[in-house]
Amino acid sequence: MKIAVYPGSFDPITNGHLDILKRALSIFDKVIVLVAINPDKKGTFTTEERVLMIKEAIKEMKLENVEVDSYHGLTVDYATKHHAPYLIRGLRAVSDFEYEFQIHSANKFANDNVEMVYFMAKNETSFISSSMIMELHHNHVDVKDLVPHSVYKRLK
Ligand code: COA
Repeated sequence: MKIAVYPGSFDPITNGHLDILKRALSIFDKVIVLVAINPDKKGTFTTEERVLMIKEAIKEMKLENVEVDSYHGLTVDYATKHHAPYLIRGLRAVSDFEYEFQIHSANKFANDNVEMVYFMAKNETSFISSSMIMELHHNHVDVKDLVPHSVYKRLK
């Protein structure tokens, strides 16, 4: 059984993330969406809120073979403990590449047995980021088409 972990801050989850998740499910038998901690980010929602919004979005979309979890520690350690030797990441633009290259190297240095798999964002979601959603929302732009209902209702 091929199990992958999809780590991220998901603060909050967006339609861009969900697109990557759906496509990953066409390749892997199970995907664990992992709310991980990026120490450089302050965060808007609590970890519990992020997990709940992801769980609700998965239910809304009727996605199967997905689990949601959170972890304070290295994602490669989590992946090893859960017999999931693949980490999924989304790539939106060239600007993501440098950052992802660095995370890739750090993860490989920490544990070379975990492989990273990348999905290119679709054109229509390639400009989305969690902080951009929050900025648009704070400036009274309706973000209904960019996030799942579980997130939209909390923003409201
Ligand atoms: N659609 C929408 N948004 C996307 C996206 C997509 N397809 N792909 C990336 N993004 C956005 C996210 O919304 C996020 O936006 P934000 O910066 O406004 O919040 C940004 O791209 C990148 O976020 P994310 O993918 O969540 O990465 P991150 O840098 O916040 O966190 C972790 C990366 C949490 C996975 C990483 O820090 C981690 O693994 N931490 C645990 C410790 C560890 O193992 N560190 C690595 C080795 S040192």
